[in-house]
Amino acid sequence: MDLAGLIEEITADAAHAVDRGKVADYIPSLGGVDPKHFGIAIVTADGTVHKGGDADVSFSIQSVSKVFALTLALGKIGETLWRRVGVEPSGSAFNSVVQLEAEKGIPRNPFINAGAIVVSDVVLGGSEPREAIGDILRFVRFLSGDESVFIDSEVASSEEQTGFRNAALANYMRSFNNMEHDVGGALRVYFHQCAIAMNCTQLALAGRFLMLDGRHPDTGRAVVSAVRARRIMALMLTCGHYDGSGEFAFRVGIPGKSGVGGGILAIVPGKASIAVWSPGLNKRGNSHLGSEALERLAAATNWSVF
Ligand code: DON
Repeated sequence: MDLAGLIEEITADAAHAVDRGKVADYIPSLGGVDPKHFGIAIVTADGTVHKGGDADVSFSIQSVSKVFALTLALGKIGETLWRRVGVEPSGSAFNSVVQLEAEKGIPRNPFINAGAIVVSDVVLGGSEPREAIGDILRFVRFLSGDESVFIDSEVASSEEQTGFRNAALANYMRSFNNMEHDVGGALRVYFHQCAIAMNCTQLALAGRFLMLDGRHPDTGRAVVSAVRARRIMALMLTCGHYDGSGEFAFRVGIPGKSGVGGGILAIVPGKASIAVWSPGLNKRGNSHLGSEALERLAAATNWSVF
């Protein structure tokens, strides 16, 4: 398969695309990102890295970080996490409040904001937010093998200043006793993990452990068990694109996690870890050109898991 040629074609077409979606502007510092960007990086199981377009330009990974925070939280408390967070798609927007009342403060899954905030509470544990934020950042650097991954403090404070709905979700869950630590601290952790800045190459490298049955390719050691890697990918497939998850599974057929910064991490088990980035979003808040690129890639490679 000529992956390099395929990436070249996809990147060239993305450069000319007229409909690029709409850049998220509800967090002021995201609103200024140029919608012309498009990047893609694919790491295959043998470690080869293929890149196209702006693959080495950093962007705000936003909700893609929820995959890494979930992995860390599962490492801390194991499967007991599922007493506090469900594993069902929500069919609602990422920041929706509606299901929490009827479902007694238990979020549907760890990839909607409410679920990710419970995950942040677990990662926080009894420690200081600064330490928990450091834990997430160190983990992502370890997974990508790149120490230059950083947290964009401007994005983090922009999130903190505008995150009223996230604060409402956290406090509401606290009222159901589903937040065990300081709510402000857990939110701080959440806002900072969303503000992690990475490029497509780093992100695709960070996803390798999922493609490889949970093993870190540089050490051969298990980051998570094969069963856990499979479960994380199952959640990516069913819940990774919020209320657009069904459509992504239908069109692309690969476990993926999107973020409002326009990034998507997609994992083809045993074959490839893929990161795409284009800041313009479709109406469900997922990267417009990123989703199209993955659809085309999946069709050409036969990488759909179905
Ligand atoms: O909670 C928020 O508003 C963001 N920091 C994260 C949102 C996000 O990426 C959800 N996405 N698709």
